[in-house]
Amino acid sequence: MLTSIELMINNEKKQVHVRPANTLLHTLREEVGLTGTKPGCENGDCGACTVLFDQKPMKSCLVLAVEAENHDITTIEGLQHTDIQKAFMDEFAFQCGYCTSGFIMNCYALMEQHPNPDEYDIKNWLQSNICRCTGYEEIKNAVMKVLKQD
Ligand code: FES
Ligand code: FES
Repeated sequence: MLTSIELMINNEKKQVHVRPANTLLHTLREEVGLTGTKPGCENGDCGACTVLFDQKPMKSCLVLAVEAENHDITTIEGLQHTDIQKAFMDEFAFQCGYCTSGFIMNCYALMEQHPNPDEYDIKNWLQSNICRCTGYEEIKNAVMKVLKQD
């Protein structure tokens, strides 16, 4: 049975029809058409599906769409033209790019919540995301580049 719910995504209201068991990840991709959020393990391990849920990083494969009602959801499409997106390009912080949107979401959240992280903080924070191409050093450099600009 489908239920109609309203989600606030990237500051826009979206009406979607979901089954109670539909995840936020699949709802974003298949109902809303925001395919920047990537399915990886779908088990909470890889971080490819990371979005911001009330400004906090959250793995959208572990959230039901119905649980996201009355919360602010930000996806990678909502972070266009941000400093961290540009820094990823400048520092070549991706190879295949599959993990990249999840990493950018999590890096953005890190700098929002900890304006002055050191290298240890950055590595520790980003442990929740996996890059199969192992581009971790460049990702850390992208965060450091943004921090130096402030
Ligand atoms: S797809 Fe959600 S953590 Fe891997
Ligand atoms: S750039 Fe390929 S998985 Fe991270």
